[in-house]
Amino acid sequence: MLSQEVNDRYTRVGAGTPTGELMRRYWHPISTVSQMNDKWTKKIRLLGEDLILYKDRSGTFGLMEPHCAHRRMNMIYGIPEENGLRCPYHGWLFDETGQCTEQPYEETEDPDARFKDKIQMKAYPLEVKAGLIFAYMGPAPAPLVPNWDVFAMDDVVRDIGMTILPFNWLQAQENSLDPVHLEWLHGYWSNFITEMRGEDSKWNIRTHEKIKFDEFEYGIYKKRVLSGGSDEDTSWREGHPIVFPYFLRQGGDGFNRDHWNMTGPAFQIRVPIDDYNTAHWWVMCHQKEAGAAEQKFEDIPFFSPPLALLDENDQPQYSLLDSNSAQDVAAWITQGEIADRTGEYLGRSDKGIIMFREMLEANIRRVEDGGDPMNTFRDPAENVYHGMVTELSPAAAANRSSGDMGGTGTGNLPFLRQGMASKFSPIMNQRGVAGGADADERRKKVGQ
Ligand code: FES
Ligand SMILES: [Fe+2]
Repeated sequence: MLSQEVNDRYTRVGAGTPTGELMRRYWHPISTVSQMNDKWTKKIRLLGEDLILYKDRSGTFGLMEPHCAHRRMNMIYGIPEENGLRCPYHGWLFDETGQCTEQPYEETEDPDARFKDKIQMKAYPLEVKAGLIFAYMGPAPAPLVPNWDVFAMDDVVRDIGMTILPFNWLQAQENSLDPVHLEWLHGYWSNFITEMRGEDSKWNIRTHEKIKFDEFEYGIYKKRVLSGGSDEDTSWREGHPIVFPYFLRQGGDGFNRDHWNMTGPAFQIRVPIDDYNTAHWWVMCHQKEAGAAEQKFEDIPFFSPPLALLDENDQPQYSLLDSNSAQDVAAWITQGEIADRTGEYLGRSDKGIIMFREMLEANIRRVEDGGDPMNTFRDPAENVYHGMVTELSPAAAANRSSGDMGGTGTGNLPFLRQGMASKFSPIMNQRGVAGGADADERRKKVGQ
């Protein structure tokens, strides 16, 4: 149970709030490059600020405050020029740093006028990596965009999903530290959903025998032994990484692609739009087919999984609840816009959540003390490639038992069958390995 003050401390993300200032030390994905293929401007909301993302005719992206510094027309109507975005109202032009570079009428009156030099729109730096456009809203100098393996590995193809979830970021992130919900939300409830859908396949639910959480360089490993398993299982020895502040790492690792389990490395990312909304990203790497050309950023497929909400009769939409992510989202939405943690009772299954809150608190304090929070990289030599071993890694495969959750034998957990991202992934659908097919069938199709 948290006090209201602490719940606010960990959930509010506006400028000047403790978590808002922490979040301003990280680069956040705001759009895919491919989402900008057919448009020049796009509304963005990030950490409680409304912004306009644009692309100029030279292909440079910019991110600026929405209202023109002259007489406040919204720059969503802006006209792209070779270098920057021009306000259509009176033609003032701004570059990607927010600097006004042309003021047509003012310059006509006085060619030497330097009025424009004084006009600076608020603008934030952007960087493109892995087909995503990242923004940084914190103090200069900005750190490097981390080369997480999901972003940095080459010789793969990616697809990227995003859905805006109408609740606070921390609910989604805390869920990743909550192992036991797997057997209930994705097991027992899954079986009920299957029944409601008129299907007869049932999961053989494996209960949690023990759980633990280990801190590591980038975050926390979540570890478990399920009924029928043992300490030799990769789910116990290697585990499932949560990367601070808001990533869940899924899939195998990037060191050896021979053992990717249907998808390669993937991230779920929970970017705070504001206190009450979260941009939930799924970034997925897949095997590149032999001889295929390098995937261009503008060709990366973008998808947006639908939200499973109650229907018009306030009944669960079972038709949409057949994936683990949809089930997760149903749980998170119903916790409220910001979960009231003054009314929660944490049990021994929740020690990972407590550990994550301690990590959050420690990093808020690091920022308050003028330091960099964890996962800040400033030295390029230390930012070459941040790989991590997972329970689905080839390095872990030697340890994998047939009862293991990532097992190639009797793996029988729902998420192996249908993650939301895999259900809607254009690449997996194209390859015929997405959707509700049986897990063993899918593994056969991908040759594992
Ligand atoms: S309002 Fe933008 S140029 Fe006048
Ligand atoms: Fe889940």
